[in-house]
Amino acid sequence: MKKKIVIANWKMNHDFYETTSFLRDLLKIFFDKKINYKKKVIIAPSFPFLQISNQILQGTSLNVAAQNVHQMENGPYTGEVSASMLRSIGIKQVILGHSERKKYFSETNDILLKKIHISLKYGLNIIFCVGETFFERKRKEQFIVVKNQLEETVFQCTSEKISNFIIAYEPIWAIGTGETATPEQVQKMHKYIRTLFLDKYGEKISKKIHILYGGSINDTNARNIFSKEDIDGGLVGNSSLQIEKFLKILLS
Ligand code: PGA
Repeated sequence: MKKKIVIANWKMNHDFYETTSFLRDLLKIFFDKKINYKKKVIIAPSFPFLQISNQILQGTSLNVAAQNVHQMENGPYTGEVSASMLRSIGIKQVILGHSERKKYFSETNDILLKKIHISLKYGLNIIFCVGETFFERKRKEQFIVVKNQLEETVFQCTSEKISNFIIAYEPIWAIGTGETATPEQVQKMHKYIRTLFLDKYGEKISKKIHILYGGSINDTNARNIFSKEDIDGGLVGNSSLQIEKFLKILLS
């Protein structure tokens, strides 16, 4: 059976002290309680703390991901961080396509495709987010919206590169709102996404690809969500910021 993946997307939260103490406490609990969490854990802290996070988690089964990367190799892009910079400090994964980046930083599918190419060039694995808005779902357009997002980005890649992707279905209306999609709604979309991978890349890849859900996952709804056949884990924002809640999600 595929190991589920839980990703903590800390967004613009946790300073140096909070980041390092969270990770040290988490490792201590893992070690002391000898709990088998049965899930692959990835933590996505802010840029300044990627390196220290990587150092703290070195030699453990936990991994670190960046929350973003710039689409250009290098150059006059004040304030930005390149894929080669991330690789130079040992980062191997990056989150791309998050709806907050689209909303607040005007990221389009064109930009995302460039980000995909540069990430793959430098050997970064990609956690790629897709999802519809509230109005798109109201108009029953969620499937076509997600299909278009994938076709303009991830599906531009050859099958050799697809093993570098994790897909995260994040309906925008459920992110940070406390409103979760029902496990049935999520299962339906994940099954649909898997069919798209089947049509494009064949059975082996469609079965292997991890499709995570993100949007107001918490310690009470995680078990139900993770119990569905096509839900291979979660991308967790708010509820990953407190260690107790996060641990409960890992045990779900
Ligand atoms: P949330 O965020 O769990 O706070 O809804 C999820 C995400 O944006 O990845």
